[in-house]
Amino acid sequence: MAKFVPVEIFDLVIFGGVGDLALRKLMPALYHRDHDGQLPAGCRIISVGRSTFSNDEFRAKVGGSLREKLPDSEFSDELWGSFSQRLQYVTADALDPSNWQGLKNVLDGFEDRIRVFYLATAPKLFGAIASGLSQNGMITPEVRIVLEKPVGNDYASAREINDRVGECFPEDSIFRIDHYLGKETVQNLLALRFANSLFEPLWNRGNIDNVQITVSEDLGVGGRVEFYDQVGTLRDMVQNHMMQLLCLTAMEPPTSQDQEAVRNEKMKVLRALKPIGPAEVKRSTVRGQYQAGAIDGEAVDGYLDELRGKDSRTETFVALKVQVDNWRWSNVPFYLRTGKRLKKKYSEIVIQFQAVPHSIFPELIDARTANRLIIRLQPDEGVKLSLMAKDPGPGGFELRQVALDLSDCDSGGARYPDAYERLLVEVIRGNPALFMRRDEVEFAWRWIDRIIAGWDESAQPIEAYVAGTSGPTASSLMLDREGRSWFPD
Ligand code: BG6
Repeated sequence: MAKFVPVEIFDLVIFGGVGDLALRKLMPALYHRDHDGQLPAGCRIISVGRSTFSNDEFRAKVGGSLREKLPDSEFSDELWGSFSQRLQYVTADALDPSNWQGLKNVLDGFEDRIRVFYLATAPKLFGAIASGLSQNGMITPEVRIVLEKPVGNDYASAREINDRVGECFPEDSIFRIDHYLGKETVQNLLALRFANSLFEPLWNRGNIDNVQITVSEDLGVGGRVEFYDQVGTLRDMVQNHMMQLLCLTAMEPPTSQDQEAVRNEKMKVLRALKPIGPAEVKRSTVRGQYQAGAIDGEAVDGYLDELRGKDSRTETFVALKVQVDNWRWSNVPFYLRTGKRLKKKYSEIVIQFQAVPHSIFPELIDARTANRLIIRLQPDEGVKLSLMAKDPGPGGFELRQVALDLSDCDSGGARYPDAYERLLVEVIRGNPALFMRRDEVEFAWRWIDRIIAGWDESAQPIEAYVAGTSGPTASSLMLDREGRSWFPD
């Protein structure tokens, strides 16, 4: 089991402090870190929001939400008693210059501890908040600022945000979150690739036929429909989570775990991505939108129903064929797909190895393409290697596919920590290796902007799919045309 080393004393200020992310992800993450003894006495968590709450009212709100969210076995009244004393609330509108004094009063006198500003707000506020913190003298030597994704809505807006935040904070104190980088199995992908000599010699175009990355969600856009309709799946999921997974799978071995070494290698992958422009979108992209259907036997609305009948061309599903144009990956397609209201929630990376060059079992076609490495990010985190073996016993020579389970990183039955737990601790420690550097974010946006321009220019149709399926038929056809298929759900 991993050991929990306490962090140094800190003040964490959360803008958007009563928002969905703060209540659903950040507070439970901090509560768990406190539970494991990682938060020293005296650390403060200061939430900032526009609504008016007293400290006690705010604590009651967080307490209610933790009780509702955490299983009974993870919530203790005793820990809540001490955790709640760390919480404070400040009412402020970050856009109103007269509102900063309240926060300043709370922070004054605590300049010698680590200070983290977590911006869990709309990205359009990032620049204004960074300037407000700077103008009001709240930037201390041990400061960090966390930008929740999305950083912008396209390349131009991402650049503007990075410029404005960069005027106030040095780059090494800016932590751009992509919570997928904090997931246990994403970390394990690095261990698998670079702590074993077995896979690396096979990790190239000579041995791999294709790579598939799937992030499938069964939930719809629900309460976020207004926001989502402005954004769509390509911006919400592909620009960040999917591209980070692609980078970690495709990158060259970094020379160390050093923050710059890993990020430099990811950046090289981004630079090697073949652009998908107007001429390629038709063959290499599929955009879909869910219609009413059923998930686990329960009827669910279509996307347009959730928008109350408003017309929309926003995609809730994307499939892409991506080429990494370098020596290692030449002609190996990376197929990416992600969507809402699909059959079930799971995320995985499948490395499909090439077929054996000659089969001595010609009647067993499956045996030729059996080898694949399946890296499951969620649920049931783990890694499986699929092999062919002889079916034991007398009689005819039969083969069967067996899965070698490599996932025994034995958590001893313990809970896997949520990605935000790891990432918050890394922020406090000041280690940006698991966060996106400015150039990564901007380059990813440029690549995505091109696809969006291609969709607009070519009037790429939105393919309907029934909720509860694996997405539009066009997504299967995209692989079918190349004699391949998605690894089944
Ligand atoms: C977020 C997206 O970044 O990731 C959401 O904005 C999505 O739309 C979520 O649902 C998925 O995260 P996870 O960890 O549940 O796979």
